[in-house]
Amino acid sequence: MAKAKIALIGGGNIGGTLAHLAALKEFGDIVIFDIVEGLPQGKALDLAQSGPVEGFDGDFKGTQDYKDIEGADVVIVTAGVPRKPGMSRDDLLGINLKVMKAVGEGIKTYAPNAFVICITNPLDVMVWALREITGLSHNKVVGMAGVLDSSRFRLFLANEFKVSVEDVTAFVLGGHGDTMVPLTRYSTVAGIPVPDLIEMGWTTQENIDGIVQRTRDGGAEIVKLLKTGSAFYAPATSAIEMADAYLKDKKRVLPAAAHLTGQYGVNDMYVGVPVVIGAGGVERIVEVSLTKDEKAMFQTSVDAVSGLVDAVKKIDQSIG
Ligand code: APR
Repeated sequence: MAKAKIALIGGGNIGGTLAHLAALKEFGDIVIFDIVEGLPQGKALDLAQSGPVEGFDGDFKGTQDYKDIEGADVVIVTAGVPRKPGMSRDDLLGINLKVMKAVGEGIKTYAPNAFVICITNPLDVMVWALREITGLSHNKVVGMAGVLDSSRFRLFLANEFKVSVEDVTAFVLGGHGDTMVPLTRYSTVAGIPVPDLIEMGWTTQENIDGIVQRTRDGGAEIVKLLKTGSAFYAPATSAIEMADAYLKDKKRVLPAAAHLTGQYGVNDMYVGVPVVIGAGGVERIVEVSLTKDEKAMFQTSVDAVSGLVDAVKKIDQSIG
């Protein structure tokens, strides 16, 4: 069987971690593209040199030439600028939109059949713009945020309940921003929903409210600590889970920024919802019922994303 080819656009903190994880999981050959000369070449060589110890083979290439991503099966985009302390993800809009234009053209020309996972922030609007620029089908372009947000939520819940993270599932809806909607009703410990756990005396509503807020601020908490960049281990691992679902046709049910065509009352926008990922890319959107309050929170989040989409259309009239 031919080996898969993984192209990583952006070879910074997340890009480098993605390359390492993809190599350890033996996804296939890996190309790292970055505009900084030497950076992706250095990381690719370093990675290849860990192969004999870890026992993985493959081609590892760093490049400044989009031609090298030709025929990629999966493209993961982290090119752009991360946040600095005090910045919101939305502050990155103008600068990262320009990056998406260049990246989108490269993908359109050389990897039009790839499954494209975007990580660059502000996520929901960047993945929307990237899809518009590439012209790829909507089911093949997706944004990584929900796996990360729910992983943060799972960790905080597991710590609160003093149980393994493995036994905690969590559910996060909406945009990857301060308005994201962590849904406690659909979050469980071994199938027991969080509201039941409150009734069982495992925790209090107040503690859960604190955890929900900490999840919303999860990225900012790390930016504040790092001072010179944003989170990269958990974002990389989250995108790798999505790539794995695609490459192995696993039909995983994962939260992702997906293109909605009327589901949840949203049309022609990317926003975080549960989806099924398999060999067809985003094969299904999972539409769960929401209470009145949950709907209102989700709508606030959708409105925030919609405002950014309008801003993009104003900045660059060729998009949208
Ligand atoms: N084409 C390719 N690579 C680019 C381009 C471009 N036009 N512009 C910038 N880059 C590269 C930078 O040279 C850098 O190596 O993107 C890389 C980004 O890496 P980091 O600065 O380390 O940022 P990282 O932490 O990886 O985050 C990347 O993901 O989570 C989001 O908000 C985050 O938007 C940011 C992105």
